[in-house]
Amino acid sequence: MSEEVKKFKVTVDGQTVEVAPGTTILEAARAIGGKSVPPAMCYYKPLETSGGRCRTCLVEVSKGSDADPRPMPKLVASCRTTVMDGMEIKNLQSEKTQEARKAVTEFLLVNHPLDCPVCDQAGECHLQDLGYEHGLERTRTEFERRTFEPEDIGPYIKLHMNRCILCARCVIAANQLTEKREHGILFRGDHAEISTYLNKALDNDFIGNVIDVCPVGALTDRTARFASRVWFTKPMDAHCSCDKCSGKAVLWMKGDEIIRVTTRQNQYGESEEWICNSCRFEKKELSYWTIEGPRHIDRHSVISLNHYQKPQDEPVLLDNFQAKQLSEKDEAEANEQI
Ligand code: SF4
Ligand code: FES
Repeated sequence: MSEEVKKFKVTVDGQTVEVAPGTTILEAARAIGGKSVPPAMCYYKPLETSGGRCRTCLVEVSKGSDADPRPMPKLVASCRTTVMDGMEIKNLQSEKTQEARKAVTEFLLVNHPLDCPVCDQAGECHLQDLGYEHGLERTRTEFERRTFEPEDIGPYIKLHMNRCILCARCVIAANQLTEKREHGILFRGDHAEISTYLNKALDNDFIGNVIDVCPVGALTDRTARFASRVWFTKPMDAHCSCDKCSGKAVLWMKGDEIIRVTTRQNQYGESEEWICNSCRFEKKELSYWTIEGPRHIDRHSVISLNHYQKPQDEPVLLDNFQAKQLSEKDEAEANEQI
């Protein structure tokens, strides 16, 4: 009979959860859910070894464990720190954490251009969300930002190095999903940049997935660039028969036109299943796909602004409001008749 593994009790912002030993603080917070989940710009659960690079997920450990209740002296990266039994963590409740996140956001924006109005990632960019929550109103730096010319890296992908935050997700994704990686981080420090070796093209079968893992608009889909703002498109779950991947994808549609095809992603923007290049870039005709229905998008997301269905959690409010309007209209009409 297999022995049951003792679970660890962890508290995040006063909410307790039991998780298996070896779980990271970030995953424990995700098990609780809601606003106590720290943001993550470089960690990406489906990619092994991701995380530990951006520092947006810093949290305060106010109690180390039941065995050693001393607080940790410094903020820790929640995506890389595993929990201990009885650990207590502060995220939203910690002023230090909020201050640090502000500083990290400012740091990430030192070189990142504020070109959201023309960036294809606008509306689904994690840095945009972070900047909105923690960013300063104006920059405190006077020196010029690093600039690079946008580069076509292969037939399908455009690299805007200006926007890259060097999270390394695309490099890890290429390493783990394709047969041979042809790009990486070249140079060190403030010279570091994402580049292909000897100007090679990225054309491996699953390389398109680097677009989905990029948290900002540094890697974009050349077949869909500038075709539409994301909030004017309607995401639909769809599948097709494919011998390379599961064929399960999200079609971003405008009328009957498929603007772009992406992986299905969870609430943290992480791909549930990878898709191949043919499904992503070549199947832009409806005849390839079986539509399953609208993709659920968090109603607080800017993508939901162009509602294609009634918000699920407010039907009573809407109905009451409409009912009130109707009864006022009926009353006015009745008064007019009298
Ligand atoms: S291109 Fe995107 S995914 Fe790659 S390192 Fe830069 S920000 Fe990260
Ligand atoms: S998400 Fe933890 S360091 Fe980037």
